[in-house]
Amino acid sequence: MRIEDPKIVAALPELGVQIRPRASLAELTSLGIGGTTDLVRINKHEAIPDLLSLLDAQNVPHKFLGGGSNLLVGDGELPWIVLQLASPQPDIVLEGNFAQVDAAADLGRTVTFCAKHDLGGMEGLIGVPGTIGGALRMNAGAYGMQIGTYVRQVKLYRSGARKLETLEGDQISFEYRHTSFAPDDMMLAVKLELPSKPYREILKGIRICNEKRRASQPLGQKSAGCIFKNPPGASAGRMIDELGLKGQNVGDARVSDRHANFFVNAGKASAKDMLALIADVRERVEKSFGVILEHEVVVWNA
Ligand code: EPU
Repeated sequence: MRIEDPKIVAALPELGVQIRPRASLAELTSLGIGGTTDLVRINKHEAIPDLLSLLDAQNVPHKFLGGGSNLLVGDGELPWIVLQLASPQPDIVLEGNFAQVDAAADLGRTVTFCAKHDLGGMEGLIGVPGTIGGALRMNAGAYGMQIGTYVRQVKLYRSGARKLETLEGDQISFEYRHTSFAPDDMMLAVKLELPSKPYREILKGIRICNEKRRASQPLGQKSAGCIFKNPPGASAGRMIDELGLKGQNVGDARVSDRHANFFVNAGKASAKDMLALIADVRERVEKSFGVILEHEVVVWNA
């Protein structure tokens, strides 16, 4: 979608945002799939309420993009624009056991930065691509930990109230790959409280998680991490593997040979290919195991 409305074009520079016309979502997502649309980069949180009022008043549909690492975007010219936060500097500020982190900060960099200052707890998330904002919204987790455990405060744009707000940790519920934020809430910053641990000890944990991940996940390939959530008490990857579906493909969309819940873009896969593969695998799992798998990956397809 192009931003052509003269009222919006005239107002955007005053809000201090930048526009990248016809940005390719394939280049902004780890799956390397997605069509084109105008991208608005936001430099100041304070500009968000005015920007969104303007877009709503002119009926311009929009979506919020984090790091694009858990996202499958549709093909062709997209029917909405995309908003993304630019990362301020510094994006992580430490005070005692608290880390105040901007939503646009890189997740891996946050884990290692805190580690270097003897703050641990998030070792399991090393190697998970994406931003802190994305990790927060999905309650990212791995190897027995989840980010929600450490969240003490969140600054966000609340779509319902149409304003910037700060929530305390106990006002938010964090469940397996799910949070109580509304779908259109925009994460802006988070205050984490992390346990003190010597750097050397944290580094050991980081190395172990890195090795486990390297051994079991297709790290060098284009993917969005796990496609399906694990159903209670079961593993989606193991079920897909047991059906012999590793290597199964629709065009260049392929079930990873290394981990069956990772679907990779092995070349020029389209969203249509990937969605067809997801639907096929889902149907086979339901037929064989009687389990309906739920998407873990976020799909923007319309
Ligand atoms: N397994 C297979 N074949 C496969 C994949 C897995 O038999 O192709 C078996 C493994 O041998 C193991 C079990 O299934 O016994 C579980 O596998 P794994 O330890 O790889 O964990 P997972 O349940 O598949 C979850 C998260 C990952 C996270 C890992 C490590 C979900 C959907 N996935 O995977 O998160 O990295 O644990 O903690 O919760 C993500 O969120 O995108 C993601 C990749």
